[in-house]
Amino acid sequence: MLSLEQQIVKATRLLQQNEVVAMPTETVYGLAARIDSEEAVKKIFSVKQRPFFDPLIVHVASLDQAQSCASEWNDLTQSLAQKFWPGPLTLVLPKSEKISDLITSGLTSVGLRWPQHPVALQLINSVGIPLAAPSANKFGKTSPTKAQHVREEFGDSVFVVEGDSSQIGIESTVLSVKKQEGIYQLAILRKGAVLKSQIDSFLKSTGFAYKWLEIIDKKESPGHMKHHYMPSIPFVICRNPHMKLSELSAELNKKLIELPDEVEGVKIVKPKSEIKKIEFLKLSTDPVQAARELYSQLRAASLRKPDALCFIQTPQLNGEMWDSIFDRLYKAASLILD
Ligand code: TXA
Ligand code: MG
Repeated sequence: MLSLEQQIVKATRLLQQNEVVAMPTETVYGLAARIDSEEAVKKIFSVKQRPFFDPLIVHVASLDQAQSCASEWNDLTQSLAQKFWPGPLTLVLPKSEKISDLITSGLTSVGLRWPQHPVALQLINSVGIPLAAPSANKFGKTSPTKAQHVREEFGDSVFVVEGDSSQIGIESTVLSVKKQEGIYQLAILRKGAVLKSQIDSFLKSTGFAYKWLEIIDKKESPGHMKHHYMPSIPFVICRNPHMKLSELSAELNKKLIELPDEVEGVKIVKPKSEIKKIEFLKLSTDPVQAARELYSQLRAASLRKPDALCFIQTPQLNGEMWDSIFDRLYKAASLILD
């Protein structure tokens, strides 16, 4: 077993040779490539089997590095960066010429994040160049929060820098920041552990004039949602806490096989035979803890291979942090039952 220093040396060498490596971050493990190597960035997409239309987040280890990746850095961006970085917030800003179209999927904006995890920072500093890093899982699958998860996902083909379990457990909040006609316009593109209310109350205290835009993405509404984070066994959300086990079992056997095989390029997980053994996903009622354990619970249940995994959604599980968790749960689910 290599020491942390030896792992950093090895990972740095691999990155210099245009390879990808996995690294721990406080949100989830990332699959990293240096941003100045087209060859390495392409490998992220091929290793993950990720379509090119999904842009990558660029990870930096200083404000200078972040600023060099953006073509506009206004006062509000500076305030947000000072308040929330290093941490689980990605800022989507106009990109600089340093950032290739491959990284941004042709968009003129780039997602930037200064992570908090000391190992991620050590690696970025050792390479001296920002690292593009999506979550280290195959496209559409459950994100990894432990080094072991990454090894289960990619085997020996990807070198993993070891770290502890990701403390936050769900991906960063993605916030778009624009300035149009003198007004700052903000939009949450992905919910995470940095909450809209926290951003709002901080910005109110600074006196900036800004407005929130609702990005209306119909893919995110149940029924039309884009699937993501899917475990390898059928996962079902049941919104009726009074449903009897026999009824649940009958519903699953009827409805799961009727699902389409694929939605927007993501394979829908369906049962292979009759559903007999149903396991129930149990999450902490504390949303911070629930987020931390969510993906490892989904992965652990997949390894035990029940015929289906079910989460009972109760009305008590509400609030902004639960919204961030449900964003993942709904996309991970093959089916939602009322
Ligand atoms: O916590 C995280 O953000 C983790 C860790 C590794 O840092 N990374 C992560 O990356 O979740 P990924 O690739 O799984 O998610 C990136 C998402 C994209 O799917 C997209 O929704 C958004 O971030 N994104 C990135 N760049 C964007 C851009 N220029 N405009 C809009 N959305 C963007
Ligand atoms: Mg991901």
